[in-house]
Amino acid sequence: MPEVVVEGTDLDLSHLHESVRPIAALPAAERLGYVRADRWIGYPAANEALQRLETLLAWPAKQRMPNLLLVGPTNNGKSMIIEKFRRDHPVVSHADHEEIPVLALQMPSNPSVTRFYTAILTAMGAPLRKTYQIAHLEQVVLQLLRSAGVRMLIIDELHNVFGGTADACSLLASFAAAFPLRRPSLIATPEMTSYLLTRSEGTIGELAGLLTDAASAAIESGEESINQRTLQLASYAGPTERRRLFERELT
Ligand SMILES: Nc1ncnc2c1ncn2[C@@H]1O[C@H](COP(=O)(O)OP(=O)(O)OP(=O)(O)O)[C@@H](O)[C@H]1O
Ligand SMILES: [Mg+2]
Repeated sequence: MPEVVVEGTDLDLSHLHESVRPIAALPAAERLGYVRADRWIGYPAANEALQRLETLLAWPAKQRMPNLLLVGPTNNGKSMIIEKFRRDHPVVSHADHEEIPVLALQMPSNPSVTRFYTAILTAMGAPLRKTYQIAHLEQVVLQLLRSAGVRMLIIDELHNVFGGTADACSLLASFAAAFPLRRPSLIATPEMTSYLLTRSEGTIGELAGLLTDAASAAIESGEESINQRTLQLASYAGPTERRRLFERELT
């Protein structure tokens, strides 16, 4: 039977939130678009986080400003909270400049000081045309942050600060040296670090699980080293994939 699209006001939509009722009367294609888009739903923990951000935004300027670290598993609504907070404090256009009370950006993968400053400039809509020395770049960034009246800097994907750093590389080098494999595992490179941290979603326990599976594959396959091939052979599934598998079993 062809779908009958009932448009108009004769539908009983009292089961819906008020703001959604007009949309429920729209044709299927438009409703599908709405269903697939992100929308904000408040829940206690998120509202509490937003409230703490509000408190910080109103903090009087002083020499050492407070910080807040928001930690949670993947897919847990952290980025959505940032987006919501940013929407609540939008850019204000003045005659001669834009005021950006809340500036949000993502920590670049494989970050360096230069890439971090560049990410700030991009988030402000002021991408660089020249290359600067770090010291000068820092001046440019600070000057722009001040003139745009930025009161809060929010950095998403902060765990990337571990990617490509000497810290993370030396941890991987220690792992690589601790598995009894007969060939060297060249995993302490920035590219490998970034790949391993992404696949294991950034925690040391997951990283250990991934490397253990790859080392087992290295022995079983005779490859005798952790490399692209044995990492592919590794049976390891990251937290997100495990959750997906678990949810599939439930249905
Ligand atoms: N408050 C919310 N209202 C409605 N949907 C939400 C909300 N929070 C999260 N979601 C849904 O969950 C998805 C994952 O949330 P989000 O991207 O914020 O997670 P995250 O904690 O930033 O994860 P990651 O650590 O992987 O970056 C969102 O794309 C959205 O579909
Ligand atoms: Mg996120």
